[in-house]
Amino acid sequence: MESVKIVEVGPRDGLQNENLTLSAEDRIEFLLRLCDAGILNLEAGSFVSPQAVPAMAGSEKVWENFPKKDEIHLSFLVANEKGLERAIQAKVKRIAIFTATSDAFTLKNIRTSVEDSLKAFEQICARALASGISVRGYVSTVFGCPYEGKQKPARGIEIAERLFQMGCDEVSMGDTIGVARPREVRDFFKLLKKSLEISRVAAHLHDTRGMAIANLMSALHEGVRVIDSSVGGLGGCPYAIGSSGNVATEEVVYGLEAEGFQTGISLSQLFEAAAWIQAKLGKPLSSKLFLAGLPKKL
Ligand code: HMG
Ligand code: MG
Repeated sequence: MESVKIVEVGPRDGLQNENLTLSAEDRIEFLLRLCDAGILNLEAGSFVSPQAVPAMAGSEKVWENFPKKDEIHLSFLVANEKGLERAIQAKVKRIAIFTATSDAFTLKNIRTSVEDSLKAFEQICARALASGISVRGYVSTVFGCPYEGKQKPARGIEIAERLFQMGCDEVSMGDTIGVARPREVRDFFKLLKKSLEISRVAAHLHDTRGMAIANLMSALHEGVRVIDSSVGGLGGCPYAIGSSGNVATEEVVYGLEAEGFQTGISLSQLFEAAAWIQAKLGKPLSSKLFLAGLPKKL
Protein backbone atom coordinates (compact mmCIF):
# COMPACT_ATOMS: atom_id res chain seq x y z
CA MET A 1 0.00 0.00 0.00
CA GLU A 2 1.38 3.42 -0.87
CA SER A 3 1.82 5.90 2.01
CA VAL A 4 0.90 9.53 2.28
CA LYS A 5 2.69 11.67 4.84
CA ILE A 6 0.36 13.88 6.84
CA VAL A 7 1.80 17.02 8.39
CA GLU A 8 -0.63 18.07 11.11
CA VAL A 9 -0.67 21.87 11.27
CA GLY A 10 -3.61 22.33 13.68
CA PRO A 11 -1.43 23.19 16.70
CA ARG A 12 0.10 26.06 14.66
CA ASP A 13 -2.09 27.07 11.69
CA GLY A 14 -5.19 26.18 13.68
CA LEU A 15 -4.41 27.75 17.03
CA GLN A 16 -2.68 30.86 15.59
CA ASN A 17 -6.05 32.00 14.36
CA GLU A 18 -7.91 31.67 17.66
CA ASN A 19 -8.59 34.56 20.02
CA LEU A 20 -8.06 32.24 22.94
CA THR A 21 -4.42 31.60 23.89
CA LEU A 22 -4.06 28.08 25.25
CA SER A 23 -1.46 27.35 27.92
CA ALA A 24 1.71 25.46 26.94
CA GLU A 25 0.36 22.49 28.94
CA ASP A 26 -2.84 22.41 26.87
CA ARG A 27 -0.89 22.82 23.64
CA ILE A 28 1.29 19.86 24.62
CA GLU A 29 -1.74 17.77 25.54
CA PHE A 30 -3.26 18.61 22.13
CA LEU A 31 -0.03 17.48 20.40
CA LEU A 32 0.08 14.26 22.43
CA ARG A 33 -3.52 13.42 21.62
CA LEU A 34 -2.73 13.86 17.93
CA CYS A 35 0.36 11.66 18.33
CA ASP A 36 -1.81 9.01 20.02
CA ALA A 37 -3.86 8.96 16.82
CA GLY A 38 -0.67 7.99 14.95
CA ILE A 39 0.48 11.37 13.61
CA LEU A 40 4.28 11.59 13.41
CA ASN A 41 4.83 15.06 11.90
CA LEU A 42 3.31 18.15 13.48
CA GLU A 43 3.79 21.88 13.34
CA ALA A 44 3.75 22.76 17.00
CA GLY A 45 4.11 26.54 17.18
CA SER A 46 5.78 29.70 15.90
CA PHE A 47 8.75 31.79 16.96
CA VAL A 48 7.15 34.97 15.65
CA SER A 49 6.31 38.21 17.39
CA PRO A 50 3.85 37.60 20.24
CA GLN A 51 2.35 41.00 19.45
CA ALA A 52 1.63 39.78 15.91
CA VAL A 53 0.33 36.32 16.86
CA PRO A 54 -0.45 36.14 20.59
CA ALA A 55 -1.71 32.53 20.46
CA MET A 56 1.79 31.30 19.52
CA ALA A 57 3.58 33.07 22.37
CA GLY A 58 5.72 30.79 24.52
CA SER A 59 6.29 28.14 21.86
CA GLU A 60 9.65 27.42 23.53
CA LYS A 61 7.77 25.99 26.50
CA VAL A 62 5.80 23.68 24.22
CA TRP A 63 9.02 22.23 22.80
CA GLU A 64 10.94 22.12 26.08
CA ASN A 65 8.21 20.15 27.87
CA PHE A 66 7.17 17.94 24.97
CA PRO A 67 7.97 14.40 26.16
CA LYS A 68 8.29 12.61 22.79
CA LYS A 69 11.09 14.59 21.13
CA ASP A 70 12.85 11.44 19.88
CA GLU A 71 9.91 9.72 18.18
CA ILE A 72 7.82 12.62 16.91
CA HIS A 73 8.90 15.32 14.47
CA LEU A 74 7.80 18.78 15.58
CA SER A 75 8.48 21.93 13.58
CA PHE A 76 8.13 25.61 14.44
CA LEU A 77 7.59 28.62 12.15
CA VAL A 78 10.38 31.17 12.01
CA ALA A 79 9.82 34.60 10.42
CA ASN A 80 13.11 36.40 11.07
CA GLU A 81 16.57 36.22 12.69
CA LYS A 82 15.07 36.80 16.10
CA GLY A 83 12.83 33.78 15.58
CA LEU A 84 15.84 31.70 14.56
CA GLU A 85 17.70 32.81 17.71
CA ARG A 86 14.77 31.57 19.76
CA ALA A 87 14.71 28.27 17.84
CA ILE A 88 18.45 27.73 18.41
CA GLN A 89 18.18 28.64 22.10
CA ALA A 90 15.27 26.22 22.55
CA LYS A 91 17.24 23.52 20.65
CA VAL A 92 14.38 22.61 18.32
CA LYS A 93 15.20 20.13 15.55
CA ARG A 94 13.09 21.54 12.74
CA ILE A 95 11.84 24.96 11.65
CA ALA A 96 9.66 26.18 8.78
CA ILE A 97 10.29 29.44 6.95
CA PHE A 98 7.53 31.13 5.01
CA THR A 99 7.15 33.49 2.12
CA ALA A 100 4.61 33.87 -0.69
CA THR A 101 4.10 34.64 -4.35
CA SER A 102 2.51 37.99 -3.55
CA ASP A 103 4.32 41.08 -2.28
CA ALA A 104 1.12 42.59 -0.89
CA PHE A 105 0.46 39.55 1.30
CA THR A 106 4.10 39.19 2.36
CA LEU A 107 4.20 42.85 3.39
CA LYS A 108 1.19 42.33 5.63
CA ASN A 109 2.35 38.97 6.95
CA ILE A 110 6.05 39.55 7.62
CA ARG A 111 6.49 43.24 6.76
CA THR A 112 8.85 42.75 3.83
CA SER A 113 8.76 42.05 0.09
CA VAL A 114 9.01 38.52 -1.31
CA GLU A 115 12.51 39.19 -2.69
CA ASP A 116 13.78 40.64 0.59
CA SER A 117 12.19 37.77 2.52
CA LEU A 118 14.06 35.28 0.32
CA LYS A 119 17.35 37.10 0.93
CA ALA A 120 16.74 37.07 4.69
CA PHE A 121 15.63 33.43 4.67
CA GLU A 122 18.78 32.43 2.78
CA GLN A 123 20.84 33.57 5.78
CA ILE A 124 18.37 32.05 8.26
CA CYS A 125 18.36 28.73 6.43
CA ALA A 126 22.16 28.58 6.26
CA ARG A 127 22.48 29.31 9.98
CA ALA A 128 19.77 26.82 10.89
CA LEU A 129 21.40 24.04 8.86
CA ALA A 130 24.80 24.86 10.35
CA SER A 131 23.18 24.53 13.80
CA GLY A 132 21.80 21.08 12.94
CA ILE A 133 18.21 22.29 12.45
CA SER A 134 16.37 21.05 9.35
CA VAL A 135 14.24 23.50 7.39
CA ARG A 136 10.88 23.27 5.67
CA GLY A 137 9.69 26.04 3.35
CA TYR A 138 6.25 27.45 2.63
CA VAL A 139 5.03 29.34 -0.40
CA SER A 140 1.73 31.08 0.35
CA THR A 141 -0.88 32.59 -1.99
CA VAL A 142 0.16 30.21 -4.78
CA PHE A 143 -3.30 30.19 -6.37
CA GLY A 144 -4.57 33.57 -5.26
CA CYS A 145 -3.87 36.49 -2.97
CA PRO A 146 -6.53 38.36 -1.01
CA TYR A 147 -4.92 41.66 -2.08
CA GLU A 148 -3.45 40.97 -5.56
CA GLY A 149 -5.87 38.34 -6.89
CA LYS A 150 -4.88 35.45 -9.15
CA GLN A 151 -1.22 34.40 -9.14
CA LYS A 152 0.77 32.91 -12.02
CA PRO A 153 1.66 29.20 -11.47
CA ALA A 154 5.25 29.83 -12.61
CA ARG A 155 5.72 32.31 -9.75
CA GLY A 156 4.94 29.72 -7.04
CA ILE A 157 7.27 27.22 -8.69
CA GLU A 158 10.10 29.77 -8.98
CA ILE A 159 9.84 30.63 -5.27
CA ALA A 160 9.75 26.94 -4.31
CA GLU A 161 12.94 26.43 -6.38
CA ARG A 162 14.63 29.22 -4.45
CA LEU A 163 13.60 27.65 -1.14
CA PHE A 164 15.03 24.28 -2.20
CA GLN A 165 18.24 25.95 -3.41
CA MET A 166 18.79 27.56 -0.02
CA GLY A 167 18.46 24.15 1.69
CA CYS A 168 14.82 23.45 2.53
CA ASP A 169 14.22 19.69 2.39
CA GLU A 170 10.47 20.03 1.75
CA VAL A 171 8.41 22.89 0.37
CA SER A 172 4.71 23.27 1.00
CA MET A 173 2.57 25.02 -1.61
CA GLY A 174 -0.21 27.00 0.05
CA ASP A 175 -3.69 27.84 -1.15
CA THR A 176 -3.78 30.30 1.73
CA ILE A 177 -7.28 31.65 1.13
CA GLY A 178 -8.83 28.53 -0.40
CA VAL A 179 -9.51 29.87 -3.88
CA ALA A 180 -8.04 27.03 -5.97
CA ARG A 181 -10.19 24.62 -7.90
CA PRO A 182 -9.35 21.02 -8.90
CA ARG A 183 -8.29 21.71 -12.48
CA GLU A 184 -6.00 24.57 -11.44
CA VAL A 185 -4.41 22.34 -8.81
CA ARG A 186 -3.87 19.54 -11.33
CA ASP A 187 -2.35 21.90 -13.90
CA PHE A 188 -0.17 23.51 -11.23
CA PHE A 189 1.39 20.28 -9.96
CA LYS A 190 1.73 18.95 -13.52
CA LEU A 191 3.85 21.99 -14.32
CA LEU A 192 5.71 21.91 -11.02
CA LYS A 193 6.92 18.33 -11.42
CA LYS A 194 8.69 19.24 -14.68
CA SER A 195 11.29 21.12 -12.64
CA LEU A 196 10.92 19.97 -9.01
CA GLU A 197 10.94 16.62 -7.23
CA ILE A 198 7.28 16.07 -6.45
CA SER A 199 8.11 13.73 -3.52
CA ARG A 200 9.55 16.74 -1.64
CA VAL A 201 6.57 19.00 -2.25
CA ALA A 202 3.52 19.29 0.02
CA ALA A 203 0.01 20.56 -0.66
CA HIS A 204 -1.31 23.00 1.97
CA LEU A 205 -4.97 23.52 1.18
CA HIS A 206 -7.39 25.74 3.03
CA ASP A 207 -11.07 24.82 2.72
CA THR A 208 -12.48 28.34 2.61
CA ARG A 209 -14.62 27.62 -0.44
CA GLY A 210 -15.25 23.90 0.14
CA MET A 211 -12.80 22.76 -2.54
CA ALA A 212 -10.00 21.40 -0.37
CA ILE A 213 -10.75 17.66 -0.61
CA ALA A 214 -11.38 17.89 -4.36
CA ASN A 215 -8.13 19.85 -4.70
CA LEU A 216 -6.31 17.28 -2.61
CA MET A 217 -7.45 14.51 -4.97
CA SER A 218 -6.06 16.54 -7.88
CA ALA A 219 -2.74 16.98 -6.09
CA LEU A 220 -2.60 13.24 -5.29
CA HIS A 221 -3.33 12.42 -8.91
CA GLU A 222 -0.25 14.41 -9.93
CA GLY A 223 1.93 12.55 -7.41
CA VAL A 224 1.86 14.75 -4.30
CA ARG A 225 2.40 12.50 -1.26
CA VAL A 226 2.76 15.06 1.54
CA ILE A 227 -0.41 16.72 2.77
CA ASP A 228 -0.73 19.47 5.39
CA SER A 229 -4.00 19.26 7.29
CA SER A 230 -5.55 20.36 10.53
CA VAL A 231 -7.70 18.32 12.88
CA GLY A 232 -11.31 19.48 12.91
CA GLY A 233 -10.54 21.88 10.04
CA LEU A 234 -9.02 24.47 12.36
CA GLY A 235 -6.90 27.16 10.78
CA GLY A 236 -6.38 30.37 8.89
CA CYS A 237 -3.85 33.12 8.60
CA PRO A 238 -4.49 36.29 10.62
CA TYR A 239 -2.91 38.32 7.78
CA ALA A 240 -5.01 36.91 4.94
CA ILE A 241 -8.48 38.41 5.01
CA GLY A 242 -11.08 35.75 4.38
CA SER A 243 -8.84 32.76 5.03
CA SER A 244 -10.37 29.94 7.03
CA GLY A 245 -9.54 26.42 8.11
CA ASN A 246 -7.16 23.93 6.58
CA VAL A 247 -8.49 20.76 5.04
CA ALA A 248 -9.53 18.63 8.05
CA THR A 249 -7.12 15.79 8.92
CA GLU A 250 -9.95 13.32 9.55
CA GLU A 251 -11.49 14.11 6.15
CA VAL A 252 -8.09 13.61 4.50
CA VAL A 253 -7.56 10.25 6.24
CA TYR A 254 -11.13 9.11 5.46
CA GLY A 255 -10.72 10.09 1.81
CA LEU A 256 -7.23 8.62 1.44
CA GLU A 257 -8.23 5.25 2.92
CA ALA A 258 -10.85 4.87 0.20
CA GLU A 259 -8.20 5.65 -2.43
CA GLY A 260 -6.01 2.83 -1.12
CA PHE A 261 -3.39 4.96 0.65
CA GLN A 262 -2.13 4.34 4.15
CA THR A 263 -1.50 7.12 6.63
CA GLY A 264 -0.97 5.18 9.88
CA ILE A 265 -3.60 7.39 11.54
CA SER A 266 -6.55 6.10 13.57
CA LEU A 267 -9.77 7.93 12.72
CA SER A 268 -11.42 7.15 16.05
CA GLN A 269 -8.49 8.61 18.02
CA LEU A 270 -8.39 11.61 15.72
CA PHE A 271 -12.05 12.19 16.55
CA GLU A 272 -11.15 12.10 20.24
CA ALA A 273 -8.46 14.74 19.69
CA ALA A 274 -10.94 16.85 17.71
CA ALA A 275 -13.57 16.60 20.48
CA TRP A 276 -10.94 17.58 23.06
CA ILE A 277 -9.80 20.71 21.20
CA GLN A 278 -13.41 21.65 20.44
CA ALA A 279 -14.18 21.61 24.15
CA LYS A 280 -11.02 23.62 24.92
CA LEU A 281 -11.84 26.28 22.33
CA GLY A 282 -15.51 26.31 23.29
CA LYS A 283 -16.80 26.55 19.73
CA PRO A 284 -17.88 24.05 17.09
CA LEU A 285 -15.27 22.77 14.65
CA SER A 286 -15.93 23.15 10.94
CA SER A 287 -15.05 19.64 9.74
CA LYS A 288 -18.10 18.06 8.10
CA LEU A 289 -16.89 14.54 8.85
CA PHE A 290 -16.42 15.37 12.53
CA LEU A 291 -19.90 16.93 12.69
CA ALA A 292 -21.60 14.03 10.92
CA GLY A 293 -19.53 11.28 12.57
CA LEU A 294 -18.22 8.14 10.93
CA PRO A 295 -20.87 6.09 9.12
CA LYS A 296 -22.05 3.26 11.42
CA LYS A 297 -21.94 0.37 8.95
CA LEU A 298 -18.88 0.58 6.74
P1 HMG B 1 7.88 43.81 12.92
O1 HMG B 1 6.89 44.49 13.82
O2 HMG B 1 8.18 44.42 11.60
O3 HMG B 1 9.22 43.54 13.64
O4 HMG B 1 7.40 42.32 12.74
P2 HMG B 1 10.05 44.48 14.49
O5 HMG B 1 11.44 44.02 14.28
O6 HMG B 1 9.72 45.92 14.23
O7 HMG B 1 9.56 44.10 15.96
C1 HMG B 1 8.35 44.49 16.58
C2 HMG B 1 8.27 43.84 17.92
O8 HMG B 1 8.17 42.41 17.76
C3 HMG B 1 9.54 44.08 18.74
O9 HMG B 1 9.18 44.06 20.10
C4 HMG B 1 10.36 42.85 18.46
O10 HMG B 1 11.30 42.56 19.46
C5 HMG B 1 9.30 41.79 18.40
P3 HMG B 1 9.07 45.43 20.96
O11 HMG B 1 10.41 46.08 20.81
O12 HMG B 1 7.97 46.23 20.30
O13 HMG B 1 8.76 44.94 22.34
N1 HMG B 1 9.70 40.64 17.56
C6 HMG B 1 9.73 39.40 18.02
N2 HMG B 1 9.45 38.86 19.22
C7 HMG B 1 9.61 37.53 19.34
N3 HMG B 1 9.97 36.73 18.31
C8 HMG B 1 10.24 37.22 17.10
C9 HMG B 1 10.14 38.62 16.94
N4 HMG B 1 10.34 39.43 15.88
C10 HMG B 1 10.07 40.67 16.28
N5 HMG B 1 10.59 36.42 16.12
C11 HMG B 1 7.57 40.05 12.16
C12 HMG B 1 8.01 41.44 11.85
C13 HMG B 1 7.89 39.15 10.99
C14 HMG B 1 8.32 39.54 13.35
C15 HMG B 1 6.08 40.05 12.48
O14 HMG B 1 5.39 40.63 11.41
C16 HMG B 1 5.57 38.68 12.75
O15 HMG B 1 5.89 38.03 13.73
N6 HMG B 1 4.68 38.18 11.89
C17 HMG B 1 4.09 36.89 12.11
C18 HMG B 1 3.48 36.42 10.91
C19 HMG B 1 2.80 35.10 11.11
O16 HMG B 1 3.09 34.32 12.02
N7 HMG B 1 1.84 34.81 10.23
C20 HMG B 1 1.08 33.62 10.27
C21 HMG B 1 1.83 32.46 9.73
S1 HMG B 1 1.95 32.40 7.94
C22 HMG B 1 0.62 31.43 7.47
O17 HMG B 1 -0.26 31.21 8.26
C23 HMG B 1 0.59 30.83 6.12
C24 HMG B 1 0.91 29.34 6.10
O18 HMG B 1 0.00 28.61 6.90
C25 HMG B 1 0.87 28.78 4.69
C26 HMG B 1 -0.42 29.12 3.93
O19 HMG B 1 -1.52 28.91 4.42
O20 HMG B 1 -0.24 29.57 2.78
C27 HMG B 1 2.32 29.07 6.65
MG1 MG C 1 -1.99 27.95 6.25
